[in-house]
Amino acid sequence: PALGIIIVAAGSGTRLGRREPKAFVSLAGRSILAHALEGVLQLAEPARIVIVAPRSRLDAADAVVAQVAGAARGYVSVVSGGESRQASVAAGLAALGEAPRVVLVHDAARCLTPTDAIQRVVDAVRETGAGVIPVQPVADTIKRVDPAGAVLGTVDRSELVHVQTPQGFPRELIVDAYARAEREHTDDAALVAAAGYPVTTVAGDDAAFKITTPWDLRRAETMLRRPVG
Ligand code: C5P
Repeated sequence: PALGIIIVAAGSGTRLGRREPKAFVSLAGRSILAHALEGVLQLAEPARIVIVAPRSRLDAADAVVAQVAGAARGYVSVVSGGESRQASVAAGLAALGEAPRVVLVHDAARCLTPTDAIQRVVDAVRETGAGVIPVQPVADTIKRVDPAGAVLGTVDRSELVHVQTPQGFPRELIVDAYARAEREHTDDAALVAAAGYPVTTVAGDDAAFKITTPWDLRRAETMLRRPVG
């Protein structure tokens, strides 16, 4: 397939306060990873998918693929992740092979991302040839504070956005940027930008929020019980 998707699911999810790694926490009866895989499989075009899982959960990830991917399971593989998200993405890139022209990197923890939000990223990568990230405006006022909690100032939020995933890139851009990365970056777009490549934005989606805390998990449960709109 011309599209490759890396689902990073190798984090521990400490902030969720569960014993199992976050991607294997149950959400409305199936794992967060199962929901994430189901989401990307709803794209109209076939994709080569690599799931990056914790080393201790490779069998569990294989079981999710068997359960969710059905006829598409031949396109899905599982590899083990690294210490950092960046190391996990690098493992995914290595496993993806050279066929995909466009690569998406998606957090398993954003498992309710709507298909059209994913498609917008794919389309924009093809149109622009640049890196593409889904973003949303910042709703709250943002302030800088010192270590003691005193307010130093208010940041102009008109220039600020929240960044979601999937982030999309032409394959050769992200492969080259990863090969040249000299330090850890907080997202793939920052790493690609540090290599000198352009990055642009498309509209994100409220449902693409990242499950991080127990509160987020409850929000996701509620959405699945009672879809918005
Ligand atoms: O920890 P956080 O929620 O920010 O991680 C974002 C995504 O990156 C998650 O889906 C997580 O599983 C993944 N990750 C990973 N390998 C790591 C750390 C995080 O695949 N070492």
